[in-house]
Amino acid sequence: MPLVSSTFMLQHAREHGYAVVAFNVHTLEMLQGVVEAAEEAQAPIILQSTVGTVKHLGPDYIAAAATVAANRSQVPIALHLDHCSDFNLIVQCIRAGYTSVMIDASHQPFEENVRQTAKVVEIAKAAGVNVEAELGKVGGVEDDIVVAEHEALMADPDDCARFIELTGVDTLAPAIGTAHGIYKGEPKIDFQRIERIAAKVEVPLVLHGGSGIPEAQVRQCVSLGMAKMNVATELRIVFSDAIKAVFAANPEENDPRKYMIPAKKALHAAAIEKMRLCGTIGRAKGGAYNDHNGYSKRSY
Ligand code: 13P
Repeated sequence: MPLVSSTFMLQHAREHGYAVVAFNVHTLEMLQGVVEAAEEAQAPIILQSTVGTVKHLGPDYIAAAATVAANRSQVPIALHLDHCSDFNLIVQCIRAGYTSVMIDASHQPFEENVRQTAKVVEIAKAAGVNVEAELGKVGGVEDDIVVAEHEALMADPDDCARFIELTGVDTLAPAIGTAHGIYKGEPKIDFQRIERIAAKVEVPLVLHGGSGIPEAQVRQCVSLGMAKMNVATELRIVFSDAIKAVFAANPEENDPRKYMIPAKKALHAAAIEKMRLCGTIGRAKGGAYNDHNGYSKRSY
């Protein structure tokens, strides 16, 4: 099927108590690895690229690869731009074929976050593209975005409700104590806060910093309304470790297929594990979504 907007898959996930995993990919093999895993798992997935990766590869190359993957696949696949504060780049990605974008103005005061998000929602809605925004500040390192522990800020439930009303955003990433990158010790997730936010807003909630969260905590987040989980760092580590292992065994290796194939395999296994944890396995099976036309082509 063609690339789909992530809106319907995430609403379905929130309504049915599971989360779709959004995998950050940086190479063709990473993209293929997670797509093949989703097919095996009969699960919807979201392919994500960071701004750094978009600048590195070009939005058209990424959208072309994701489009081929989706067209060849039976499972719903969305293509999402992760953490972007640049309006022009968001427009470029939508024009290239992205079906979902994140406007991240969480470093701005509330009113300015509202203004920038509403502007993106207006153009994205016209193109049938999903919009995610962030409230509070997720800590840690993602690409060039660095938020120190003391700068991280939890999202306020009333602000979340007001933000959605003012912007019309489709999905919301509220900061609730997770962080990008590898945790030192266990993350201090504020589950009560998730519960309070979920009680006030109906849109699917997004769990950032999905690498290294203990299983029980992921399950609890999902059961409370987190309908999308972002995973970046763990995938990079698994992929790179597999490549390092090939070179450790054979430092003279110079055929990219000899190290990319094991790396793709390692990624595949890690992706299945994340989908299992989020309850996504089998969700695309047997026309589970066929009663809904949310998987129609984009509207342009
Ligand atoms: P991790 O790098 O912790 O998996 O976080 C990914 C993320 O939230 C991307 O937006």
